Amino acid sequence: MGLTRRYGTLVAVDHLDLRVESGSIFGLLGPNGAGKSTTIMMLITLLPPSEGGAMVAGYDIIRSPASVRRHIGYVPQSVSADGALTGAENLRLSARLYGLPRSERAERISEALEFMGLSEHADALVKKYSGGMVRRLELAQAMLHRPAVLFLDEPTIGLDPIARHAVWERLRELRQRFGMTVFLTTHDMEEAEALCGTLGIMHSGKLAALGAPEALKKQVGADATLDDVFIHFAGASLGDADSEGGRYSDVRRTRRTATRLG
Ligand SMILES: Nc1ncnc2c1ncn2[C@@H]1O[C@H](COP(=O)(O)OP(=O)(O)O)[C@@H](O)[C@H]1O
Ligand SMILES: [Mg+2]
Repeated sequence: MGLTRRYGTLVAVDHLDLRVESGSIFGLLGPNGAGKSTTIMMLITLLPPSEGGAMVAGYDIIRSPASVRRHIGYVPQSVSADGALTGAENLRLSARLYGLPRSERAERISEALEFMGLSEHADALVKKYSGGMVRRLELAQAMLHRPAVLFLDEPTIGLDPIARHAVWERLRELRQRFGMTVFLTTHDMEEAEALCGTLGIMHSGKLAALGAPEALKKQVGADATLDDVFIHFAGASLGDADSEGGRYSDVRRTRRTATRLG
């Protein structure tokens, strides 16, 4: 706790204290540059905190990073599947990466393909997949070893509504079937509301609000929407270049994700 990350003089994550209930779907919201991705990178042990620490899946991110890694799955913001390989080949790589016993690999892979509705496309090259299929493949890769906690950085950015709903459905089922805790970031208020039991709103590296979507709305006003909640807690930066449609790098990233590997 007191999780902090500095880049030079910039405090990207500023003494963050946050508890996510096991088996819940938690959504971290916040404007571009709020510190969401940096938070995730520290929680998955890919980035050392400048100060403070955290427990993830029961393990200390600083003392036991290897144990943390064995118990989490991660779907990054940008495309992580390899377009030059088939879906099944990508999954075989992940199975090895996560150290799944050889005897279990084939079964887990076919189970994950089936769960994500990709069985029929297992042997097609991923560069031929639609954006939604790539995302579901990445989810399949991240769930192969049945992690206790699944981290997803903007999982549905650039997806059409049908693909987006399909991802939500899979995430809900991962939680129900395997009791996974899901920790995601999103800019999409509809997604936050439909999917997450608890939301955290981050602003300038700090947690500006925490609670169930309904409770947060009540806090802001009688008929407040989640957009109102977001603006209320993170609105100080509205009018920044960062918030007016996002920085160039974010726009570019969105487009790149939208066109995926096409
Ligand atoms: N590797 C880095 N070096 C320097 N600054 C960084 C680096 N990564 C992120 N930042 C800065 O840290 C802040 C938080 O970034 P990030 O965690 O990516 O925010 P978010 O995911 O909420 O958009 C931003 O101001 C960003 O420019
Ligand atoms: Mg980010």
